[in-house]
Parts: sequence; structure tokens; C-alpha cells
Amino acid sequence: MIPYARHSVDNSDIDAVDDALRSDFLTTGPAVERFEAAVASFILSAKPPHAVAVSSGTAALHTAFAALHIGPGDEVVVPALTFVATANAVVFCGATPVFADIDEDTLLVDPASVEHVITSKTRAIASVDYAGQPCNYDALQAIAQRHGLPLVADACHALGAHWNARPVGTLANLTVFSFHPVKHATTGEGGMIVTSDSELATRMRRFRNHGIATDARERQRLGTFHYAMEELGYNYRISDFQCALGTSQLRKVPAWLARRRAIARRYDEAFAEPTEITPLLRNDLAEHAYHLYVVKFPNAKTRNHVYDELRTQGIGSNVHYLPVYLHPFYQKHFATRAGLCPRAERAYQQILSLPMFPGLSDDDITRIVAATKASSRSPG
Ligand SMILES: Cc1ncc(COP(=O)(O)O)c(C=O)c1O
Repeated sequence: MIPYARHSVDNSDIDAVDDALRSDFLTTGPAVERFEAAVASFILSAKPPHAVAVSSGTAALHTAFAALHIGPGDEVVVPALTFVATANAVVFCGATPVFADIDEDTLLVDPASVEHVITSKTRAIASVDYAGQPCNYDALQAIAQRHGLPLVADACHALGAHWNARPVGTLANLTVFSFHPVKHATTGEGGMIVTSDSELATRMRRFRNHGIATDARERQRLGTFHYAMEELGYNYRISDFQCALGTSQLRKVPAWLARRRAIARRYDEAFAEPTEITPLLRNDLAEHAYHLYVVKFPNAKTRNHVYDELRTQGIGSNVHYLPVYLHPFYQKHFATRAGLCPRAERAYQQILSLPMFPGLSDDDITRIVAATKASSRSPG
């Protein structure tokens, strides 16, 4: 079976984790700081921003919104087409996600729709770099500035991407990454928030550690047992051995990104002829990180048939995503209904994510392309 996504772990990763497991620290220790510094310099080597490592991308989103003091009565604009975690993190804060529709060719949030749903209760705008393509940050930043709102970039798909020659991680007030195994680099589970704002970074370090200002290592260094919990926080810490894995993985990301881009070029060439298969549009100003390679079919019948056929032939594919507000939880608690974001709903009927991961071989790609083309021509 060719999965739609797969991690790559080699002996150097295993050795790095082995070393960490034999060290004095299992949870927060020096490997956490090393991983934070590695991610910061990966994003922007000249002027590293602050990077705060946490236990998952979801925890990172929650930590980001909490740092902005998002709370009950507040609204946050969230793209309709994203993983549930982007909106759920707003709900964790007691606030309401308000959904913006997408552009049908890129599936990225439509800046005009973002502006349209801003109200007097809006406290932040969340963007999602869907599939690894950065949003139009010039347009989003202009809207955010016009309304005096912070921008939170959910870049869980977009480590290593650039918009207009600027790296993802520097395009919003807070940028969130995930290190889940299907992402560009993994810590098993893990996440990171990157910001140039040192006050927000301090608040986030506290939030991930129960709202306590010092961690156990610092107290040991200072020779004190006293700690003060200054605000309500969570245990969102990530362990040292996970971060050792993350740092080891990060060294390979440039080569993996190059491979992802080469795979995308092969797919682009194979699907260049106008057929039933339409790849997503790439913006000229975007340097894409290709977490996913998504194609569109004319309708749900064809898409579902291709999904089934690929599965029969041992090829995994996936659908990213059902618009968040159509999940039963949102319909029940936020009274959201079909029709809210028609373009996201239409896209959901048509899209399929084909296999995309660095370990995919050229023969695999040939097989996937042939099976996708053949099954899209005979939709049952
Ligand atoms: C867009 C997006 N946001 C947030 C998350 C949550 O990340 P994690 O799985 O690390 O909690 C994911 C992960 O799948 C994602 O794709």
C-alpha cells in the first residue's frame, strides 16, 4: 500500500533519541531549547524569532490564541476549509470561530471574505497555509492592520514555504507549526509557535507550563523550591527526546522539501492537459512547501470513484477537509449550517489529496498518475 503521507526516520534520528533517553532529562531539558533555536534559525537565519515548543500543533494554536487573551464574547475569523484544530483552539478559549470562505482555485482563504465577516467582536484573524501554499499575506496583513487585529498563521502545512520571498514564520504576529508524523518533520506529536514579540513568547512559555513562570530546571539553578502560578495554564510541554528527534529531522528538511517540490512538478506535468483532473493553482509569489498535493475533479461522484479505485489498487488518498462548521459539534453549539461558505462546500465535493511524501519513488508516482487518470475517465 502506498500511503497518502508517511514520515521518514533514519538511524541518525534513532541515535539522537537514544542519546536523549540516556541523558538526565526526559521532559523539558536542553534538547527543547536546541529544537526551538533550530526551528527559529531554519525559518530566519539572520534574525531568529522566538520559538516556543509545545506538545502538538493543536496545543500551539491554543497557546497562540491564549497569548492574545482571546476569551468569551470574542470572535476569531477562521478559514472554513481547514483541520478542525484551527477552529477548536478558538473554542478552547471560550470564543467563537467565524468562518471565512476560500478561493476556489487555490483553496486558500479569500481576503475579501475575511474582511466581510469582521465585526466589532473580532479579536484576531487566523490564516491557514492550506496544503503548504502560503496565503496572500500582503492582503491579509493589510486587512489586519486596517482593523487593528493580530494575525495568527496556522502554518502546520507550510514549514519552509515563502510568500513574496519572505519565510512563513515571519508573516504574522504568531505562526504555528505541527510536527505530527505526516508533516515536514516530526517529533511524534509536537508543535511550535514562532513570533518576533518577546512579551507574547514569555506568556506562551508560561502557558505551556501550567501558567508557572519558572520551570523545574530554572528553580534548580536558582536554588529555590518556590514557584508562582500567575495565570491559568496547561501542561503543553514537549519532552526532550521528542525535541532531539525534531532537531535531527530538521537537518533533512531542505532535502525533503526539494523532493516534495520535485514530486509536485511530476504531478503538475502529468495533469497539465485539460482533463477531469485539475491541480490547484499556485500563486506566482508563493514558494510552496507541498505538505499535500491536492487535485480537483468535476464532482463528488468522480472524486469518490477515484478514491475507491486508488484504494483497490493499494494507493492511499485523502480528503482535506470537510468545512469545519459542517461538523456536528459546530452545528450543535454554534448553529452553523450548510450554505455558510459555498465555495468551501463545493471544494469539499471535488478534492482529493494524492500521495505526497519524500520517500515516494518515481515508480510510485508513475503508478499513482496512471491509476488516477484511468479511474477519473471511468467514474462508475
Ligand atoms: C491545518 C492544521 N492545523 C492544525 C493541526 C493540528 O496539529 P497537531 O496534529 O500537531 O495537533 C493540523 C494537523 O493535522 C493541521 O493540518
